[in-house]
Amino acid sequence: MTDNPIPWDLLPDTAEIVEGRLQIGGCDVIDVAEEFGTPVFIYDEKHLVSRCDEAVGAFGEGVAYASKAFLCRAMARIANEAGMHIDVATGGEMHVALAAGVPGDRLVFHGNNKSSDELAMAIDAGISRIVVDSFDEMDRIEALVGSGRVPPRVLLRVNPGIEAHTHEYLQTGVPDSKFGFPLSKGIAVEAIERARASDAMEFLGLHAHIGSQVFDVDNFAKAIEALAPFVKESGAMEFSIGGGLGVAYVEGEEADTITAWAEIVLDAVHRSGINARILAEPGRSIVAQAAVTAYTVGTIKDLPDVRTYLSVDGGLSDNPRPVLYGSGYEAMLARDPEGPRPMRARIVGKHCEAGDIIVREACLPADTKIGDILCTPVTGAYGHSMGSNYNKVARPAVVFVKEGEARLVIERETYDDLLLKDIG
Ligand code: LLP
Repeated sequence: MTDNPIPWDLLPDTAEIVEGRLQIGGCDVIDVAEEFGTPVFIYDEKHLVSRCDEAVGAFGEGVAYASKAFLCRAMARIANEAGMHIDVATGGEMHVALAAGVPGDRLVFHGNNKSSDELAMAIDAGISRIVVDSFDEMDRIEALVGSGRVPPRVLLRVNPGIEAHTHEYLQTGVPDSKFGFPLSKGIAVEAIERARASDAMEFLGLHAHIGSQVFDVDNFAKAIEALAPFVKESGAMEFSIGGGLGVAYVEGEEADTITAWAEIVLDAVHRSGINARILAEPGRSIVAQAAVTAYTVGTIKDLPDVRTYLSVDGGLSDNPRPVLYGSGYEAMLARDPEGPRPMRARIVGKHCEAGDIIVREACLPADTKIGDILCTPVTGAYGHSMGSNYNKVARPAVVFVKEGEARLVIERETYDDLLLKDIG
């Protein structure tokens, strides 16, 4: 931790300093905060488009945006217009993507416990692929097709039994996981045989997602090598390596670009002699660094010999990642993005939880005061999408900025919204 200004590469692509203040997408962040209130997620639209384009350039048309990272209709349209498919993991995500006008045949449907209703919805929408996760799901698909639906095209999710270096909850390819058919004990082979033999589905290939926020891209190469004999033997025409590319959140972290990740992946595929078409599903690496959250500083409490607590008007309801995974973030003031940050403070939210921490040990300008607009960069992924109404805090607004225009894409919830489903 240093007193240095925030590392600029954590900020969205179009971030710049104009008259000493932070601008994104040609919009002054303090003005956006004043116009739309705080907390507010501010997304750089050019950054989003550029990462979608990069993913399509690196992997080709088969790449899907993992919408769990951040989904609203505006985002679904950006990914769709860039030529990405969209990975939806629930009926709810599918509904939003379809409502955005994304055709069903551009959607890939995931999930370890898809209901019959969700599967029917997917098939009726003309889903591009269902990534089948269990034998029970095969039973459900067979029942749906048996009652007159068109057999869907499927990939089977396999679990390669590989440990990716990331948080335990974000590892999905380890032997002890709820996801996929394990390679061990012949279970994945049995799944392939059943899918191939079934008239109710068209087997296209395999899928493996080893985890998320994976910094060391060699993990992907290792997973591909481990799976290669299996992929080849299965006769898979397609092989999806899932998502999981890590991004830098704080000073000192470095992450590969989507292009570099694709090169490692495609190289490993080539070296292992896999002929299948390669698919991928980046989520975080598309959206994380595209956004900052702007908060207003509300209370500064100095506890002598302990620490300074700086409370903002959001918290774990708009960013649960520090509480869930101990994730780190940086903080900056929109009115002083390039000055030194000698003050140390714990940035906390307004929830009734001691664990409601946004930045455990933040560096801030010495004159930070109540009313300042404080930004935490790299909140574009798994922030808004994992938000909640805990303590009946209304969810923040989401604003897309581009070429000097700030466009509201998700309205801030009102107190009355909190009563919408409360029928008394
Ligand atoms: N494909 C599948 C099948 C996935 O399960 C995921 C993420 C992705 C793609 C996209 O992974 P990404 O490129 O975003 O790493 N809430 C956690 C992350 C959970 C990821 C779940 N699956 C977090 O905030 O770090």
